[in-house]
Amino acid sequence: MFACICKRVRECEIRSLIQDGARTKRHVAQACGAGTSCGMCVRRIGDLIDEETDAQALSQAA
Ligand code: FES
Repeated sequence: MFACICKRVRECEIRSLIQDGARTKRHVAQACGAGTSCGMCVRRIGDLIDEETDAQALSQAA
């Protein structure tokens, strides 16, 4: 599933970037361009950052 249609970036690609250290929407945009055109996906990118960082925190706490 595409998270960013304008730049044709899939959710799994963004999740992978976050797992590799991207922590802000700007980091994601710099890495793959997602969110840099119409901006409709920016909220979803933020949600993905929250989901992945929460998952990482939980796995580190376990
Ligand atoms: S859908 Fe991501 S910039 Fe347009």
